[in-house]
Amino acid sequence: MKGLILSGGKGTRLYPLTYTRAKQLIPVANEPVLFRVIRAIRDAGIHDIGIVVGDTAAEIREAVGDGSRWGVGITYIPQSAPAGLAHAVKESLPFIGDDRFVMFLGDNVIQGGISSLIRQFADSHWNSQIVLTAVNDPRQYGVAELNGDGSIKRLIEKPKEPPSNLALVGIYMFDRHIREAVHAIKPSFRNELEITDAIQWLVDQGHAVHPYIHKGWWIDTGKPGDMLNANDHVLEEVSPRIEGAVDAASKVDFRVTVERGAVIENSVVRGPTIIGEDTVIRDSYIGPFTSIYHHCLIEFSEIEHSIVLENSKILDVPYRIADSIIGRNATITRSEIKPKAIKMNLGDYSQVGIL
Ligand code: G1P
Repeated sequence: MKGLILSGGKGTRLYPLTYTRAKQLIPVANEPVLFRVIRAIRDAGIHDIGIVVGDTAAEIREAVGDGSRWGVGITYIPQSAPAGLAHAVKESLPFIGDDRFVMFLGDNVIQGGISSLIRQFADSHWNSQIVLTAVNDPRQYGVAELNGDGSIKRLIEKPKEPPSNLALVGIYMFDRHIREAVHAIKPSFRNELEITDAIQWLVDQGHAVHPYIHKGWWIDTGKPGDMLNANDHVLEEVSPRIEGAVDAASKVDFRVTVERGAVIENSVVRGPTIIGEDTVIRDSYIGPFTSIYHHCLIEFSEIEHSIVLENSKILDVPYRIADSIIGRNATITRSEIKPKAIKMNLGDYSQVGIL
């Protein structure tokens, strides 16, 4: 069995973070979402992984490399245009050949433990397996309508009037029959070749498509709120470890991870929280559900329920920062220079909420 990860897209809803970084490389609990996807596929026993890349190809290649870090081999597959998930499959067919494969969207974050599901498909007689989960607003997704016996009646992409609340999660398993399906379908209302339509084609042709209903959490990390939400969930999954230095004047609770080279001095850190490599926390409060990435400096400040990316500094900030995502190489500090005002140098599409 092979793995196929889709990692193109511009991530416009995550501007400004994604002006300069592929959305799949934004870390959640200090691990890029894409790395988590690679691990899930590897843990299912798959070592041959293709990554479909678009405009951000160079950055993805640099971050992932040849896959040896995870003990897998990576093949990069440039997609000629962002023309839909089924289009990505079409362009990946030379890599896939006649093998069974799992396709994973590189920006989806799902509760751990789905590797066994993938393994199961490898040994099954099904032609495809899809993953469904109940959502509040199904109109934003592909939606499944099931028959009384649990089999698939039909699948619709972004329905205006959803026939159920079961959305298609961005994890799909196929055998060689998908080859015919992606050639048979026509572009959708949004001018994309929809994987939903290709799966509907499989159903229509009488192929066995098995719907698995996922009961845990799942987040399609499109918007900033989704990143924080995914961060909350993943932090709860992390097994805490202290590899950095915590001084005697600090209070670090049992759900906190302190990565290698990190230093905590005279501070209070409440978990679930992760402090990244070589980050320094001094005279500060770090509250629950916070991920501070590597090489950051936080001094005389308070922050909770937030994500801070690498090389950023938060110094002497008199108010507690919460529910925030702070990009790379950012500095937030108190200014002694008059006038007494909030002074900002913000990227395009930034959002700031003032007290
Ligand atoms: C895509 C699929 C949709 C699926 C969703 C999961 O949507 O087309 O069926 O429910 O991924 O994340 P898109 O992100 O292209 O809008």
